[in-house]
Amino acid sequence: MTNGDTNPPGGESPGRTGERSAPIDLPAEEFRAAGYALIDRLTEVLRGIRERPVTGGLAVGDIRRLIDADAPMPDEGAPAGELLAEAAEVLTRHSLYNGHPRFLGYVTSSPAPIGMLADLLAAAVNPNVGAWTLSPVASEIEAQTIRWIAGLLGFPAGCSGLLVSGGNVANHVGIYTALRSVFPRDSGGLPPERLGRATVYATVETHTWIEKAMDMFGFAPGARRSVGVDAAQRLDVDDLRARLAADVRAGLLPVAVVGNAGTVSTGAVDPLPAIAAVCREHGVWFHVDGAYGGFAAMLADASEDLRGLSLADSVAVDPHKWLYTPLEAGCALVRDPVRHRAAYSYHPPYYHFDEEATNYVDYGPQNSRGFRALKVWLGLRQAGRRGCAGMIAEDIALARRLSERLQRERCYRVFTHNLSIVTFQYVPEGCLDQVGQPATEAYLNRLNQALQERLETSGELFVSNAVIDGRHALRACIVNFRTSASDIDAIPGIISRHGDRLHATLDRQP
Ligand SMILES: Cc1ncc(COP(=O)(O)O)c(C=O)c1O
Repeated sequence: MTNGDTNPPGGESPGRTGERSAPIDLPAEEFRAAGYALIDRLTEVLRGIRERPVTGGLAVGDIRRLIDADAPMPDEGAPAGELLAEAAEVLTRHSLYNGHPRFLGYVTSSPAPIGMLADLLAAAVNPNVGAWTLSPVASEIEAQTIRWIAGLLGFPAGCSGLLVSGGNVANHVGIYTALRSVFPRDSGGLPPERLGRATVYATVETHTWIEKAMDMFGFAPGARRSVGVDAAQRLDVDDLRARLAADVRAGLLPVAVVGNAGTVSTGAVDPLPAIAAVCREHGVWFHVDGAYGGFAAMLADASEDLRGLSLADSVAVDPHKWLYTPLEAGCALVRDPVRHRAAYSYHPPYYHFDEEATNYVDYGPQNSRGFRALKVWLGLRQAGRRGCAGMIAEDIALARRLSERLQRERCYRVFTHNLSIVTFQYVPEGCLDQVGQPATEAYLNRLNQALQERLETSGELFVSNAVIDGRHALRACIVNFRTSASDIDAIPGIISRHGDRLHATLDRQP
């Protein structure tokens, strides 16, 4: 040290005379040593991921003890290398690994390794992708990523779009743009007497982002119209048409219709081309939630219903689901860039941005924005269009294999199979001849719920649940490029073993 200061641990810098030494800085050699140590550790985790349990299955109290949850924030700092090593130890040893081949819960994918490294690179360059001036390269990479994603979905190349935190916010962007198209800011904004008559149409199968959006955007209670579904949980187009006509006659203002390109519970795909036609008839905005299934539209054998996503006015898709990007990365696309920009663009005096360039602050709710696009962009380039389609097709084939396997087993009943989601119940031997009886159905619900909870902490397999016609189903969703046929074939055995043990201890009476 030449400036005579005593540096706190972690802040020691060989700095030249007059250079500031900050306790959050890291001298280059220390950065290098800590970084290499971390990469070495993560390499071992990736190498051994198949052999480790899906989760350590620790209870809340154990984890709080592990991180000394009640400790006060330290007054003095500590060396960065030691802290990183300690954090890596706790996280890699005790976390739940959605990158494990037997993690099939919710719609959470295995993270692509290139995305892990991309996040490090993005953080190091740290562009603020709100404004082009602050992120010239990053903004152009995001623009290219958006164009490529639009291309994968068959969406027009001239659309606008941006990356957001996930499916919820991507859907919010679509609905907010629809709302602003009906109530433009320059024509009086959102007058309560008119907003009170605004309606949005979606089935009960739609993800809960819609409740949050309608609440946040000031829709009146009851403005969300629940459209009926058929036996396969798909939107009933006749019901939609009838509701729209009745609401218009009653003086209401339909703002948007939501179609699902893969519902959250069962992966059902709504009849998107037919919904698009109804929206055209009524001049209503057509939004598609493709957060789960949207990317499957890139497959050569995608159904016409799924491809109908390209007819939407706005679409939400989630790279952190079926493009295997590490969290967080959602994506909103809007067919009409002018309407999209009009919904979000302000020109405060304290910003002086080039209006010809794409400033992402004009297209979404965020101001400062991180470089999410890098991990998506690099993943797309690493796998290529063929690679992306191949991985999704393989996930779908594995789900089909699971459905067929379970249907061949005596002790399972399969409820649904769409895209890469299978819902099913375990039915122990002793219950087989009483299936359908109310008391047995109630018991099977309790058994399968307990089974799900046991599996969640077992470390052997992770599945989530769906409720199908009042039945508590186990739900496997394969958005996992590590899952292979041997993992699928092991599932009935694992579940039956835990299921039989539970059945032996569970009281059949509620
Ligand atoms: C169909 C659908 N829409 C929206 C969401 C919400 O996405 P996110 O969790 O990325 O916000 C999900 C999440 O699973 C989903 O499956």
